[in-house]
Amino acid sequence: MKAGTENRTVEVPKNKPELIKAIDVLKTERNAVILAHYYQDNDIQDIADFVGDSLELSRKAEKTNADVIVFSGVHFMAETAKILNPEKTVLIPDLDAGCNLADDCNSDDFAKFRAKYPNHYVVSYINCSAEVKAQSNLICTSSNAVDLIRKIPENIQLIFAPDQNLGRWVQNQSGRKLTLWPGSCQVHENFSEEALLKLIMEYPKAEVLAHPECQQNLLDLADFIGSTSKLLARSDESSADSFIVLTEPGILHQMKKKQPSKKFLEVPGIDGCSCNACPYMRLNTLEKIYLSLLNMKPEIIIDEKIRNKAIAPIKLMLKMSK
Ligand code: 13P
Ligand code: SF4
Repeated sequence: MKAGTENRTVEVPKNKPELIKAIDVLKTERNAVILAHYYQDNDIQDIADFVGDSLELSRKAEKTNADVIVFSGVHFMAETAKILNPEKTVLIPDLDAGCNLADDCNSDDFAKFRAKYPNHYVVSYINCSAEVKAQSNLICTSSNAVDLIRKIPENIQLIFAPDQNLGRWVQNQSGRKLTLWPGSCQVHENFSEEALLKLIMEYPKAEVLAHPECQQNLLDLADFIGSTSKLLARSDESSADSFIVLTEPGILHQMKKKQPSKKFLEVPGIDGCSCNACPYMRLNTLEKIYLSLLNMKPEIIIDEKIRNKAIAPIKLMLKMSK
């Protein structure tokens, strides 16, 4: 019998090895694949079939032969997978795993913003809702944003949404003027410059790696700026033996795995807290992955009209960044 969507009341295995085994059994039964972002808990990264940044995960979602995608990341990422795979079941372990950057760019407000710049071409960061994607000409990620903007003819005026920090960095790198939507990520805006300066004094030989969602004052102190996968590659290839990392600390798991003898330092938040873990990403757990596969929910559902509009700028991104 093909596995269905029935709600099974089975006890969740209490110990980790049993839980992992149970996830594996369900994965085979459902012909499912688990895709996880670098900002997931270490345990999730370790059981995922693929761990990557937003661009790599979109590519994997586009290519997979699985019937079911369990997207262990945030809502806009799972939504992108569903837009690319309408015939597949896309599950997200916790439906509340949103993203303040995407949530703060409301579809109606974005339509009003666009109306102020009627002749502009709209480039949106993948961290936005399907409704905002449907209003965009091209989607980008932090990994390909600069390259894609450089490919757009210079006489075309551009809107960039919803991350103004990423937008400003792309603007500096590409030399293109961008009209920016005033959004930002609560996690990347939280790093303390004072704490970073202290770490730099304490570890003068350490390389400072930063995600472009950080504010300009922090990017000014960075030795290398890039998406999560680019930061990971840099930490692997660089001759430095210590790194101060300005992004969500989930990425440190892969950094340490690749280079166990190197030192990786997190930067504290503005009020001294170690609150730079993304509160949305971290809602996902092994237990919720198990339950999502068991009950085949929460499932990502998208209005077909929106999906039809949103797929074009995503496909264009995948084509342009091959
Ligand atoms: P990446 O493009 O590096 O995966 O970034 C995703 C993200 O949400 C950063 O906050
Ligand atoms: Fe959104 Fe920021 Fe979390 Fe990334 S780290 S998912 S941009 S809230």
